[in-house]
Parts: sequence; C-alpha cells; structure tokens
Amino acid sequence: MQVPPLSPPPRLLLGPGPSMVEPRVYEAMRLPIVSHVDPYFFEVAEDIRRMLGMVFGTESHFTMVISGTGSAGMETAVTNFAGADTRFAVFANGYFCDRITDIARRQGAAVVRFEKPWGETFSDAEAREFILRERPEVVAYVQAETSTGAWQDGKAICEAAHEVGALVIADCVTSLGGMPVKMDETGIDIAYSCSQKCLSCPPGLAPISLSPRALEVLRAREAPVRSFYFDLKLLDDYYEGAHRYHHTAPVSMFYALREALAVAVEEGLERRYERHRLNHLALVAGLEAMGLSMHVQNPAHRLWTLNTPRLPEGVDDAKIRKRLIEEHGIEILGGFGPLAGRILRIGLMGASSTCENVLTLLTALEAALKAEGYRPPASGASAAEQVYARAAAV
Ligand SMILES: Cc1ncc(COP(=O)(O)O)c(C=O)c1O
Repeated sequence: MQVPPLSPPPRLLLGPGPSMVEPRVYEAMRLPIVSHVDPYFFEVAEDIRRMLGMVFGTESHFTMVISGTGSAGMETAVTNFAGADTRFAVFANGYFCDRITDIARRQGAAVVRFEKPWGETFSDAEAREFILRERPEVVAYVQAETSTGAWQDGKAICEAAHEVGALVIADCVTSLGGMPVKMDETGIDIAYSCSQKCLSCPPGLAPISLSPRALEVLRAREAPVRSFYFDLKLLDDYYEGAHRYHHTAPVSMFYALREALAVAVEEGLERRYERHRLNHLALVAGLEAMGLSMHVQNPAHRLWTLNTPRLPEGVDDAKIRKRLIEEHGIEILGGFGPLAGRILRIGLMGASSTCENVLTLLTALEAALKAEGYRPPASGASAAEQVYARAAAV
C-alpha cells in the first residue's frame, strides 16, 4: 500500500492559537530522542524550568510542564487545590472561566461566581468586595481571556484573596511569552499556560508554576489528588526529586519548548513584550481606520496578543474568514457563545506578531470586507504604517 506524504496547506496562523512555529523549534523536534529518564532529558527539563521562571516572572523553583495542552494545565491547577466542598470563587467573564468552573464542580467544589458580560473586566473595588464577602479558599481568574480579548489585572484579586487566606489560580494561556505575566509581583499562587500561543511551539505542553504559599498547601495535603496524571506531588518527584517514573514524557515536545523559550529569552523579554504591544497598537489603528470598533473598549484592558474587533453591521464573519483562508491562506477565527457572529478574533502571538503580518492581514481583510459589500472609510494598512513610523521616530 502506498500512503501519500503529508502535505499540510501553507497557512499564516493569525487566530487565537496555535501561532506560527519558530523554525528553530521545528529543527529541535527532528533531533533523536533520549528516554524520559535519561540524565540528558532532565537537563532539558531543567533548562525549561529556568526559562519558564523568567517568562512567568517568578523566582519559584516549583515550575514545570504538564504533558498535555493548556486544558491539562487548568485541570492540574484546579484538581490539586480544590476537592469536595472547597469554597471556590471564579471571576466569570468569558468562556475559559466557565471551563474552570466546570472542572472545579467535577471535583465537588462549592463554586461561587462573580459574573460579567463577556469582554468586561472586574475593578479592584468590586473584586475585593466579592472576595471579602464570599471568603473562598481558592480564587480563579483568567488573566488573558481568549474568547473576548480582555486582560484582567490580578493585583487586587490576589491581595484580597490572601487577606482571607485563599490561593489564587490565574489562567495565563494567552499571555505567557507575549505580555508580562508578573506572577510574583501580582501575587499569583498557581499560574498555568500552554506551549502553542505566545511561545510559538506546537500544542502539547502546559507550563505551570506554584508560589511558596501554594507549595505549602500542596505539601500539607493528606488526601490524594483525584487525578493520578495531574498529581503535582508525583510529578515533582519525577522531575525534581528521585526522578521516579511517573509517565513517559513527550521528549520531542520538551526539545521544542526548550528551543521556543531560548528564542524568547534571546530576543529579550522586554523587547518581546514591546514587539507584541506595538503590533497590537498598529493592528488596532488599522482596524479602527477601517471603521471596526474594538469589543474591549478600554485600551488598557485589551490583550496585545488577541484582538477582537466587532464586525460591521450586516457582515457575516464566516464569509470573511472563508475569503481570508481560501484567497490568502490566513487563519483568523470568529467569536463564539454570546459573541458568535459579533466579533473576529485575530491573534498576534509569538512569531505571528510581526509588522509584516499586521500589514498583510489588514490588506487582506480590507479586500474581504469590500467583497462582502462593506466600504471601509479609510485604509487600514496606511493607518498601521503611521503607527510604525511614529514608533520608529522616537
Ligand atoms: C485562556 C485559555 N485557557 C485555556 C485554554 C485551553 O487550552 P488548550 O486548548 O491548549 O487545551 C485556552 C485555549 O485556547 C485558552 O485560550
């Protein structure tokens, strides 16, 4: 039997993830594997731990990766810290907060939610009031909500949570590597993320980090975690302690993430964040020039990594996306849940966040909008170019 070779279509990935993979990462995945208990593998895991600490913004030694996608990071964070009847508070303003709620409820936790419409954020005062009223044991929020494009600042949440003795879980899936997560400075106790967004690595690994406070709670825990695979004590023993076998870690993915992190730290994290910020600002200027308004209204609450313009009246997002993928090979996605048909989701993550990609996308989007009968009042690409010119002049 002859099986034809794989031939994935060329794509420019500008959706909510995965993002474009760094060439150096693909090269790393071709290297010969060693076993998951080889001393060389643990050297690679140690490199990852060290560089992850830098992107998470933490001094915590308890920083590792879970073998699985971002949802595995979420499941690990929740299952290790929430059990039957744990008072578990969720700041709910998008899809991924709902997924956290679902996982916590499956563990039997007593979940209380502070709900807001998708895309809105929580002020310091209202976050504090909610936590002091509910006095939870665990608080969860999504720092970068991929379903809406909103950034949630966590400082007030963490301060209030610590006042009542609660731990804070933060979903950093769409921020890690593209925006400063500042885990220690913010006071986050459990942060998790994924490999395939702002780190520009294929999907398959979920970075996670625990503060000393979270580690103390984990170590004091007597009842076994209701998941073998995501049990952080067992994983710690595998990666750090006795290197006792726990599961067969995906070695090639570890090589890939190690290289993706090397690319990020070699670029310089501050420069990397500034690149994401500038490309986001240029894209927003272009979208607004074309008459599209941003769903997240306060610029300070917008993600630099995931942009959510509202669709003009009467324009069908499925038709726009079809044109972009079929005529230009560009992937972007639409909204879902309450935002279905109302927004586009445009990712500028990691290697995808470039000036060239911003201009290419704006030009292609303008053509698609025109083909669907919408008349943009001005050129998006020209407005974006002005942002780049102003940035170059300072
Ligand atoms: C904010 C957020 N949390 C969690 C996840 C789940 O990650 P994954 O799809 O890698 O399992 C995603 C995925 O897009 C996400 O955007």
